[in-house]
Amino acid sequence: MAVVHHEGRSVELASGESVLDGLLRAGIDAPHSCRAGHCQTCLARVVRGDVPVGSQEGLKPTWRALGLFLTCRARPTGDLEMAAPDALGLEVGARIVDVARLSHDVVRLRLTTDAPFEHCGGQFATLVRSDGLARSYSVASLPGRDEFIEMHVRLVTNGAMSGWIARDACVGDRVALRGPAGECFHVPGRREQPLLLIGTGTGLAPLRAIVHDALRDGHTGRIQLVHGALDERGFYLVDELSALAREHANFEYARCMLRGEHLSTTPASPRTSVHVGALDARVRAAFPNLKGWRVFLCGHPELVVALRKWAFIAGAASKDIHADAFVTKPAPLPRTATS
Ligand SMILES: Cc1cc2nc3c(=O)[nH]c(=O)nc-3n(C[C@H](O)[C@H](O)[C@H](O)COP(=O)(O)OP(=O)(O)OC[C@H]3O[C@@H](n4cnc5c(N)ncnc54)[C@H](O)[C@@H]3O)c2cc1C
Ligand code: FES
Repeated sequence: MAVVHHEGRSVELASGESVLDGLLRAGIDAPHSCRAGHCQTCLARVVRGDVPVGSQEGLKPTWRALGLFLTCRARPTGDLEMAAPDALGLEVGARIVDVARLSHDVVRLRLTTDAPFEHCGGQFATLVRSDGLARSYSVASLPGRDEFIEMHVRLVTNGAMSGWIARDACVGDRVALRGPAGECFHVPGRREQPLLLIGTGTGLAPLRAIVHDALRDGHTGRIQLVHGALDERGFYLVDELSALAREHANFEYARCMLRGEHLSTTPASPRTSVHVGALDARVRAAFPNLKGWRVFLCGHPELVVALRKWAFIAGAASKDIHADAFVTKPAPLPRTATS
């Protein structure tokens, strides 16, 4: 059995058990969120031993070279000594400059960083609180366009980080950013290629950055943004995106809500629309053929997985489908009557 040595503790892993699961079983408060290889909050560093196979997927080459790995994906076959990734200069210090409501359950967090935080429009970063609590959020701002790093955070019931941001975080509070990472970002390239961007909830955050990046780059092909929400209250940045649709003939902005009535209050604006019904049914009907399109998908994990499959079947090349699922911490198992 492999033994993991961490901060003076030794944990023997069960057969096939991940490093993260072993540490948590032993009562060690190891940082984590998704437990599935998506968020990078469980990042750690190998001090002695081999980097477990498959545990560096999605990490930057420089991070791999430093022996960094994801504990939730690591199933070592031999003994391993590991340490937290700090003190490697991976994080950029930051300060909160603004916390503002964008909708009933979405908060906009703006940060200024101590050093440039290099990223592409649409990538995500891991936000680290001063006590080490870490969660990943997509960056909604664009380097060179926006003065601050901007994140859109949905308030989750009993959420450790989102609750803190929505209720307790103050202007001036210190945090840190790690990253960037993720595959849902714009790379200037074929300006005539049509772009389809679909996001649910705060999945709008990276898509906002991508739209601004593409328009700034002089994209000439169609840019279709579809934002999905449960009901009307879930839409935000409506004025900003409607204005973009007025200014750019190749940009169309559609909102799709599962429940509700057509919005009589919607300002009449060319190339904007509001639909009621299921988002996936709407986009399947509206975009039957995606041959030649580049597709960006962000937000609810199940929808992202389903739409990724659909986009491929509808003709988009797999290299042209970019997706980041906002996988959250698994809900605790329900307590049984005997437990
Ligand atoms: C690549 C990536 C990008 C992300 N980008 C964003 C983003 O831009 N904006 C954003 O708001 N979030 C984003 N997330 C999700 C984010 O990282 C956190 O998981 C989320 O904010 C919840 O963290 P928390 O600490 O508030 O809740 P936690 O303390 O982690 O969770 C508390 C409890 O709430 C449950 N829970 C957590 N999230 C949800 C949910 N969405 N719905 C229902 N129950 C939930 C958990 O199962 C848990 O039981 C992203 C995730 C990934 C992997
Ligand atoms: S990547 Fe390991 S907990 Fe999310």
